[in-house]
Amino acid sequence: MRKMKLGLLAAVLVVALAACGTKDNDVNSTPKPTEAVELTATPEPTATPEPTATPEPTVTPAPAVTAVPEFDKTIKDVYAEYGLKAGTCMSQFMCNDARTQEFMKENFNSITFENELKPEAVLDQEASKAAGDLVVKLQPHTLNMLKWCQDNGMAVRGHTIIWHSQTPNWIFYDNFDDKTGTLVGRDVMLARMESYIKQTFEVLEDSGYLDMFYAYDVVNEAWLDDGTKRPSNWLSTIGEDYLWQAFYFADKYAPEHVDLYYNDFNEQFKTEALYNFFQTLKDEDGNYLIDGVGFQAHLYTKDDLDLYFAHMDKIATLGLKINLTELDVCLGKYNRPDYATDKNKKIQGQFYYNLINGIMERVQAGTVKMDALTFWGFADELSWRQEYNPLLLDRKWQPKYAYGAALLLKEYSGFEE
Ligand code: GLA
Repeated sequence: MRKMKLGLLAAVLVVALAACGTKDNDVNSTPKPTEAVELTATPEPTATPEPTATPEPTVTPAPAVTAVPEFDKTIKDVYAEYGLKAGTCMSQFMCNDARTQEFMKENFNSITFENELKPEAVLDQEASKAAGDLVVKLQPHTLNMLKWCQDNGMAVRGHTIIWHSQTPNWIFYDNFDDKTGTLVGRDVMLARMESYIKQTFEVLEDSGYLDMFYAYDVVNEAWLDDGTKRPSNWLSTIGEDYLWQAFYFADKYAPEHVDLYYNDFNEQFKTEALYNFFQTLKDEDGNYLIDGVGFQAHLYTKDDLDLYFAHMDKIATLGLKINLTELDVCLGKYNRPDYATDKNKKIQGQFYYNLINGIMERVQAGTVKMDALTFWGFADELSWRQEYNPLLLDRKWQPKYAYGAALLLKEYSGFEE
């Protein structure tokens, strides 16, 4: 099943793993290739280390970086064998950068926009004032990104509608103007919420792109680790049932093919609250208004995987789908990044492998219903948590053990022989 081009692979991996053996930010520890390294593919400068300043060395050129590591299969091929889409987030930069595009096309078939479908990106204040109702608009660069997804056969996860963050404050105020200082009441805010959710699907339909969407994060991050609802203007204007209302409207206006998700981080610490909450998201006939649960999976190598799987197994008993929506695994723990040493990157590779393999075992056993696994990017230098080196390619775009793990290749995931 996971057949490789062995000769080439061996050479590539020696290069890759040698590159992984450096601290990413320590330019003086350029790896010394062994005899097995295929130097023509990605030569490392040996005599002249790369300078710390940006200019590329002219005498000893920087390695010709291959955008796509030369494994026989890519992430989307491997996940397709389990019935899953493989996803990444995409920023405007990533959508326009040739090297990034190439890696995405090779490895992924699902895209989540990093920012462009968030509330602050789609809600238009001037148009709302003029219309006397919240107005949703897609910006030109968002339409370009949607077109790129369509041209490249990508499925799209919508992210996100109701959220406490990256949400303009004016939407909660009289006359769509937070300078008035007067928050609107429940009825007005409920009407605005309904209109916002309805238009979200309408503008995508009108633009011709709604068919690409298979899931939408209706609500993001509404629960705190202590099991209480996160304070927000949605909560204070509408009241305790605002989450039910959001799913009620989403269920009313979203087309059948778009699964409706609740998405959150630190999910493994919120099991009871989330488990109880999901059971309340039902209509009067007892049918779920929600289809799935997004596990953001912003994890750390020092996290407890047993606890993570206990959470997953418990939520899965509700019969809802689960997607990993923003997977990255930081070296170390919160606020305490570990150095990107070879040892730590091996630990990271093992963590990724144990996580993804554990998920695929559950998918195959039918205990977890998952149809997509999305990484929050793939290259450390583009990550929002880059100081933790959480992704699959290192600062030189070379595959880390984490990439071998993402491909479910245990022998290349950093385990000791
Ligand atoms: C959360 C959000 C994402 C993104 C990340 C940081 O996880 O759900 O949309 O903002 O934070 O990049």
